[in-house]
Amino acid sequence: MTEERPAYPFLENQTVRRWTPQAFGRDRTPTDLAASNRSDREWPACWGDAASLLEWSDTYERILDEEHAPFYRWFVGGRLNATENCIDRHLEERKNQVALRWEGKRGERRTYTYYDLHREVSAVAAALRGLGIEADDVVTIYLPKLPELPITMLACARIGAVHNVVFAGFAPDALVKRMQRVDSSAFVTCDGSFREETAIDQKRKADTALASLEKSLPTIVVDRLGASHGTHLGTDQYDYNELVETYAGADVSPVPRKATDPLFHIHTSGTTGNPQRMTHSTGGYLAGVTWTAQTVFDLSPGTTIWCTADIGWITGHSYVVYGPLLSGATVVLVEGSLRYPDRHRPWEVIERNGVEVFYTTPGAIRTFMKWGKSFPSSHDLSSLRLLGTVGEPIGPNTWEWYYTHVGEERCPIVDTWWQTETGCVLISARPGVDELKPGSVGPPLPGIEIQIVDEDGRDLPPGEPGYLTIDRPWPSMLAPLEGDQYWVLAEYWQAFSDPRAETWRYFTGDRAVVDDDGYVTIIGRDDDVITIDNRRLGTAELEAAITMVDGVTEAAAVAESAAGETTLCVFATLEQEQRDRNAVRDAIRDAVAERVGEFTRPASIVFTPELPETYSGKTMYRLLERVVNGRPLTDSDTLRNPEILGELITIWNRE
Ligand code: PRX
Repeated sequence: MTEERPAYPFLENQTVRRWTPQAFGRDRTPTDLAASNRSDREWPACWGDAASLLEWSDTYERILDEEHAPFYRWFVGGRLNATENCIDRHLEERKNQVALRWEGKRGERRTYTYYDLHREVSAVAAALRGLGIEADDVVTIYLPKLPELPITMLACARIGAVHNVVFAGFAPDALVKRMQRVDSSAFVTCDGSFREETAIDQKRKADTALASLEKSLPTIVVDRLGASHGTHLGTDQYDYNELVETYAGADVSPVPRKATDPLFHIHTSGTTGNPQRMTHSTGGYLAGVTWTAQTVFDLSPGTTIWCTADIGWITGHSYVVYGPLLSGATVVLVEGSLRYPDRHRPWEVIERNGVEVFYTTPGAIRTFMKWGKSFPSSHDLSSLRLLGTVGEPIGPNTWEWYYTHVGEERCPIVDTWWQTETGCVLISARPGVDELKPGSVGPPLPGIEIQIVDEDGRDLPPGEPGYLTIDRPWPSMLAPLEGDQYWVLAEYWQAFSDPRAETWRYFTGDRAVVDDDGYVTIIGRDDDVITIDNRRLGTAELEAAITMVDGVTEAAAVAESAAGETTLCVFATLEQEQRDRNAVRDAIRDAVAERVGEFTRPASIVFTPELPETYSGKTMYRLLERVVNGRPLTDSDTLRNPEILGELITIWNRE
């Protein structure tokens, strides 16, 4: 067998760009630079600098407790409250500064100052208490991009409750899976939302999910559709606005939490492909997020940031809600799609709100590229200072387009690598400090140590692609509850650690390569997870929905990238020769949309007699991906049924 070495064109012909702080568009404060340059401090003491950006009710006794490694505990002995840090401590200096600007799908605008946030968060916190919610209880929040979503998250944090935000686009089944293991004590949703001009019933999805839970939950319902839609509230269901009115002016002191107490749960897709509960701690998470908000995104009081991510994903938690508010910034929150009412929307939002920092995904940028440069160029984007990207590799061409047509060759781009599990950005160039190389995410941040290893865990030198591991703990790292430690250990720590030598190496699940300057280029993931619209979805969850359809025996879901957009492609095997394949196709489309979410409705469905699988019976997604994306088939020596490959290509090309 000849070994084909993949080419990594990103590492060649890169343009290296460097911005000095002076050329970065405004005077940077000494804190920014101190925060950026603290790499020479000893480890882990350097992380004390991140913690010092927070207000503590009790200072911590120890920065890092390694006793239960790899379940590290950060800032042990410290106590703090997330809302106090996001809101209360800003009141003295900037209570009338805008904290949140919301733009609705139908042209509505709402603005909240830090003082407004304080009042509404306190009222909702009091309302939650009124419903019996106390510290450590879990509240599931199932809301689209409405101001009430961050407000409810902060209200939970204020009373020490743990939030569990579930993306509002998920279908009832997917919601139930994400509620079952967290044992929620309350639930927050809304009546509906608008898709273009049509009202979508969110409450019905919520009620369907609630009905399949074992216990009934007090539920708060936000009114998005307006009185004319008349939503029926059932037993133990309460109107959000009425509660806010009832509890207006409530004085709810922030409950100090131990640094190691959970702040929230969020679900991710593990290598099993099924949603897994991830937990983040209060002190470590907030320290990592506030430090990166300032160092990577250059946020300081009054900076306006627009991060396009949904709050239901970690990006939204960290850089729509916590990072910006901790930094005293102004958050722009935009409901709905970037193409509605037309393709000018993203640029209008930036122009109208004076957005300085814009953070989005390569997928969105590719869509903007397809639409053409005339859209951004017909708007005044001079407020922009810094651009960011996350979620998947951004090729050099897309990078250059973003740099030229959005950043007007003026704004640095931070290509930030991180994960739900890591809580905050771990690898990225720092604007004003590091050189930027289009296509490469950059060096690990100070305090972060990474290593590329081969299958046996041996260190690989620069230029050799392998598995991306993180060698030392970091504050905003996953902080699993005791009941989750077993699978977390197996999933993230077992592959490359040596417990007997007490060396712990976190496996990211990504493949990457490092260049001679220590810059990391991400090649892709190594597990059965696909990314649609920057949402990491387990193939198992999608396939479970597909195989519910009558007559479908087996299925594999893969991502197809065409014309700059990623869509879902399904390979399915059928029980017997089905005459009406189109009916099965429709049923599969509906099943995926209904069970996982409309945003995952498959674009192509192909029937095949068999799926390519390994000797151990694992579907070889990599080969299917290569088939749909027209790439040469390599590395097929572990394939049990190689004869299927030729057939698959023929079927795919015919369809
Ligand atoms: O494969 C990497 C990819 O997204 C994965 C994490 O996904 P998720 O937990 O959903 O979080 C997404 C946003 C934080 C990573 O394992 N990824 C993330 N950022 C980048 C990336 N791939 C390439 N370049 C990035 N900048």
